[in-house]
Amino acid sequence: MYDTLKFEGDTLILIDQRKLPQKVEFFKCRDYRDVEFAIADMVVRGAPAIGAAGAYGVYLAASEFKNNSEEVFFKKVKEANKVLVKARPTAVNLFWAINRMEQAMKRNRNKPVSEILEILREEADNIAREDVETNQAIGKFGNEVIPQGATILTHCNAGALATVGYGTALGVIRAAHESGKNIKVYADETRPRLQGARLTAFELVEEGIPVTLIADSVAATLIRDGVIDVIVVGADRIASNGDTANKIGTFMLSELAVRFGVPLYIAAPVSTIDFDINDGSEIVIEERSPEEVTHIQGIQIAPDGVEVYNPAFDVTPAENITGIITEKGIIEPPYKEGIASLKSSQKKG
Ligand code: MRU
Repeated sequence: MYDTLKFEGDTLILIDQRKLPQKVEFFKCRDYRDVEFAIADMVVRGAPAIGAAGAYGVYLAASEFKNNSEEVFFKKVKEANKVLVKARPTAVNLFWAINRMEQAMKRNRNKPVSEILEILREEADNIAREDVETNQAIGKFGNEVIPQGATILTHCNAGALATVGYGTALGVIRAAHESGKNIKVYADETRPRLQGARLTAFELVEEGIPVTLIADSVAATLIRDGVIDVIVVGADRIASNGDTANKIGTFMLSELAVRFGVPLYIAAPVSTIDFDINDGSEIVIEERSPEEVTHIQGIQIAPDGVEVYNPAFDVTPAENITGIITEKGIIEPPYKEGIASLKSSQKKG
């Protein structure tokens, strides 16, 4: 697989996910403004991946302003962080990662700027490295709930491309495949941005994991007909009570899961938990441009002037979720207690 992101020399290099799978091209971020653009325009996307990219954005800002007086340096980096944090509103990993960078800076405020720079680079590298380890742990725990020969449905892309590597929901799928369970995957195409068709199908085909691509509207028929044994998806933000924001369409799947008795698991790192909010009603849902719906890959498919509603995420209520697979283990309902017990393990930097 290709690297979702890597930092080389003084540049953050991202695989350009807007162009996959037709073209494998790389997007170079030379300053924090490039990072902000890359996150907002979805060159890089997926909650953990935008967190790691944001962390390198903070480092790039610090490098850019290193020759200013100390006071100006701190002020400018803080302003840059405010820009980075606003790139996308729903996935909490972005705020978590930037906050972790800010904490590292605060703790070392008395050191010379050159040393602070090194510390920030190290912290961004740690966030990236830990993400892969975290996803492997999610995969290991998640594999426990995947039956031999299971047919798994997934939505959007919670794979290596949505993280620094290995993936969350696709991490579970990878671990099950690697352990020889003979699994099969159905991937929702995931309109409007088609992350399922373009990215999940791409990852699974590349790795030889059996995958069948379906239009989103096919999922109900497969679930009703008993074809799907388990649904595994990622998350952008999990509230203290277990309500979970993920790609638009996840809520619909969760209703079908309950109706037809199919288990639905959320696979996500502890950094996706927002301990500061009580429930899903507090999650800001991003609305994206109408062109994502009126056009497919630049080709207009709807009449000029049509009204469009394009929320990028929805909230699945905790009661529709069978379990939340984290790197610390699987949390089961009732979620409040299990989630609260993870609070101390969320790294603050
Ligand atoms: O809009 P996107 O592509 O950033 O949305 C991504 C998702 O909804 C993923 O399922 C989620 O971020 C989990 S990624 C491991």
